[in-house]
Amino acid sequence: MFIRPRRLRRTPAIREMVRETHVSPKDLIYPLFVQHGRDIKEPIPSMPGQFRFSVDTIIQEIGDIQSLGIPSVILFGIPETKDPIGSCSYDEEGIIQQTVRAIKEKFPDMVVITDVCLCEYTDHGHCGVLKDGHVDNDATLAVLARQALTHAKAGADFVAPSDMMDGRVMAIRDELDANHFHDTGILAYAVKYASAFYGPFREAADSAPQFGDRRGYQMDPANALEALKEAALDMEEGADMIMVKPALPYLDIIRRVREDCVLPLAAYNVSGEYAMVKAAEEKGWIDGTQVMMEMLISIKRAGADLILTYFAKDAARILNASWG
Ligand code: PBG
Repeated sequence: MFIRPRRLRRTPAIREMVRETHVSPKDLIYPLFVQHGRDIKEPIPSMPGQFRFSVDTIIQEIGDIQSLGIPSVILFGIPETKDPIGSCSYDEEGIIQQTVRAIKEKFPDMVVITDVCLCEYTDHGHCGVLKDGHVDNDATLAVLARQALTHAKAGADFVAPSDMMDGRVMAIRDELDANHFHDTGILAYAVKYASAFYGPFREAADSAPQFGDRRGYQMDPANALEALKEAALDMEEGADMIMVKPALPYLDIIRRVREDCVLPLAAYNVSGEYAMVKAAEEKGWIDGTQVMMEMLISIKRAGADLILTYFAKDAARILNASWG
């Protein structure tokens, strides 16, 4: 007998029937940048098709996102002023707090996730409070918890700590519970590598470290067992969902964490992964749309349930028109 796997690839309808992995707009979370001001929709040069919004323009954008069937956004704020401890991050009138209130008022069903970190808010650009030139883990926890609480008060559905301090999920959970925000969830950036793929984001969010790098708190790209340790810790500390970041260079990590973890698993298809596709597409070197869909399928096949991606709108348009 001659086995012929090609029989199952013969027509689009057969391929669709036997396809093992599907991407839906419902799997996607769209990252958005917001700053103070009015009527702003400023293009981000290293991320073609992505913008910095003001509160008024982001509301229109959310309408588009919702009508494409994308259920959720994650917000990153650019504050008016920065200081050593990132105090704008926990201001009740801060940019994220205002934006969450505005979105929830107009679009109560949109699942609003807020990034919890200090790098956009500190003048030194590190993700925590400094002591003797180093990020002081335990002093940072209180600031993160305070920031998360203001996001919860504004109406965020999930807070997403991306700082990689030890113990921050527990610190945030305790602060939320002590203030009766039992229903606000935590999407933990449990496995976040010290990656050069964040370059375009740091330009967009104005959050590059002013000295040194983030290797003292973000993970070494060479480590896989440590990813399992970080994921297990965040589960124990009370995370509701966990994330692996970046996505494409770490598909093996997504798979291993998936096998170890009973929580919904998200993967962050980060700014550099997006920028590479856009740049090569602009040069005419690749078919950007096909590459995008192949990337998203691969991230899901690796084991992610949810994908944070700047491609969310482009992908949803294609999926709604039934991609095959
Ligand atoms: C930190 C944060 C970063 C990203 C998300 N949250 C940057 C960093 O750690 O330096 C990167 C996301 C991307 O590259 O798309 N607040």
